Amino acid sequence: MARKILITSGKGGVGKSSITAHLGYQLSKLGQRVCCMDMDVGLNNLDVIMGVENKVTYDLHDVLEGRCRVKQSLIDISPTLSLIASKHNLDVDFTGKNVRDLTDGLKTRFDFVLIDCPAGIDSGFRRAINACEEVLVVVTPTLTSLRDSDKVLGILANYKVKILGAVINRVRGDLVIRGGLMGCEDISSTLKIPVVGCIPDDDSIYLSTSLNLYNSRAQKAFKLLAKHLLNGKGKVYDATTYYRGFQGALRRFIRQNV
Ligand SMILES: Nc1ncnc2c1ncn2[C@@H]1O[C@H](COP(=O)(O)OP(=O)(O)O)[C@@H](O)[C@H]1O
Ligand SMILES: [Mg+2]
Repeated sequence: MARKILITSGKGGVGKSSITAHLGYQLSKLGQRVCCMDMDVGLNNLDVIMGVENKVTYDLHDVLEGRCRVKQSLIDISPTLSLIASKHNLDVDFTGKNVRDLTDGLKTRFDFVLIDCPAGIDSGFRRAINACEEVLVVVTPTLTSLRDSDKVLGILANYKVKILGAVINRVRGDLVIRGGLMGCEDISSTLKIPVVGCIPDDDSIYLSTSLNLYNSRAQKAFKLLAKHLLNGKGKVYDATTYYRGFQGALRRFIRQNV
């Protein structure tokens, strides 16, 4: 039976879609059957990140509004990784219950359904919560992101969902060492939830045109996050390691001065 996990955040642009796509890919590499679902109907882009924007025939709206069957809306990226894309459509004609019925229908076909959700606390966010049972909150190590995450956590407390924890994205290990940026423990104690993943600020994500991040630091971090989700425990990537020691000091210097 699939685990239905919502990937959400308080603030936009913190990396929800990137994390949904790359986490899905890494889970599928671990042999899990994964369906990523784009529920960000305003700013849908999961099909682009997953490199299948030319393969979208039917999307979430078509399946929920009865124009196709669920199977027809699944875009196969690999034998174990599929996507249900969305389209830009603010005139949404479906409810949280409709989405729940859809994700329930995917339960036997997949091990994980990862739902990319709109940022914030509006109706799109609330619709998406209804479709899931577990939640990952994506946070960047900034005060604005932390404050907005806190608001989202307040709202999530009213729903029957399990908060798995925070994924801290775009962590600059060099700045953590210098003391200018909050580390994972600080964020965990501020939000009062565990940190289950830490993804470094890494150009390989920013520049990527495929789901393979070619052994980059980000790829290692996503692998650890996938294992953590699968086993319920495990190591969290340490973004400072790359900037420690003699070589690390050089990297710090270059990152901050060149
Ligand atoms: N860890 C990271 N390192 C570098 N760039 C990142 C990272 N995570 C996300 N990005 C970039 O940030 C931008 C916003 O990410 P996106 O996943 O679209 O955010 P959201 O879905 O929350 O709006 C994209 O250009 C993406 O490539
Ligand atoms: Mg997005």
